[in-house]
Amino acid sequence: MKRKKVSIIGAGHVGASTAQLLAHSGICDIVLFDIVEGMPQGKALDLAEAAPLYNSAASVIGTNDYAATAGSDVIVVTAGIARKPGMSRDDLLKTNAQIVGAVGKGIAGGSPNAVIIAVTNPMDVMAHLLYKTTDYPHHRVMGMGGVLDAARFSTFIAMELNVAAGAVDALILGGHGDQMVPLPRFTTVNGVPVTELIASDRIDALVERTRNGGAEIVALLKTGSAYYAPAAATFQMIKAILLDEKRPLPAACYLSGQYGVDGLYVGVPTILGAGGVEKIVELKLNEKEQEAFNRSAAAVAGLVKILDI
Ligand code: NAI
Ligand code: 2OP
Repeated sequence: MKRKKVSIIGAGHVGASTAQLLAHSGICDIVLFDIVEGMPQGKALDLAEAAPLYNSAASVIGTNDYAATAGSDVIVVTAGIARKPGMSRDDLLKTNAQIVGAVGKGIAGGSPNAVIIAVTNPMDVMAHLLYKTTDYPHHRVMGMGGVLDAARFSTFIAMELNVAAGAVDALILGGHGDQMVPLPRFTTVNGVPVTELIASDRIDALVERTRNGGAEIVALLKTGSAYYAPAAATFQMIKAILLDEKRPLPAACYLSGQYGVDGLYVGVPTILGAGGVEKIVELKLNEKEQEAFNRSAAAVAGLVKILDI
């Protein structure tokens, strides 16, 4: 059987950390692409030299040439600038749109069957841009945000209850921005709804901390944004696709009527497998949840309009 191949465009913090998780897992070969000469080659060699220590069969190569990404099964796009203190994800819009537009053209021809995962912020808009520039079917272009946001919500709930974070199953919909929509009603601890375990004012505080989860880390790091949890979230999505896991995970997907939204990338629950987004799961939201979802979708739509894509 042919080994799977994952290309990561942008060998910075998130890209390299994702590559490390993939190399450790051994589930695919990895190509690290960046525009900076020597840097992806150096990181790839470093990662390749770690493979024997993980007992991993993964090969890792670094490149400045899109030709090396040809035949990829999954392509992750992390190229672009990250937030500095005081910046929102949306402040990155125009710079990153230029970068991601060029990336879309670079990757499209060589890997016609790939699934693309957009990570670069503002992520929902960058997923839309990659969909437009690659001309891939929309079920094979998605964005990573909800898995990360849900992991943050799970972490804060676990801290509150002093339980293992892995026992918390959280759900967050909407765009990966300040208007994201954490859903306590669909969040459980070992099957028990969190609304039964934590007082509502404390849940509200944890929801707010989750909404600001990215900014909290930017404020501490001062030079960039989070990358360990983002890489772990990206890895989980890649694995679901490469191994055809049919795993329920939130992703930014192109909606065509679901949740009342048409022609826009917004985060919703999905089933991820070899085909990419194999299903969009439609939950019955209550009025307040739907309003919050509509606000979040409207914020994404506003950014898409600025780019005129
Ligand atoms: P970073 O600055 O460490 O890495 C970005 C890399 O992109 C750099 O190595 C840079 O040389 C490269 N790059 C720039 N222009 C390029 C081009 N035209 N082609 C290829 N590579 C190019 O940034 P970091 O921390 O890795 O973040 C990357 C992006 O991911 C940022 O936009 C950040 O906001 C976003 N992000 C999104 C998350 C999400 O949940 N969707 C979570 C974390 C980060
Ligand atoms: C985060 O949520 C910056 O989107 C990135 O950490």
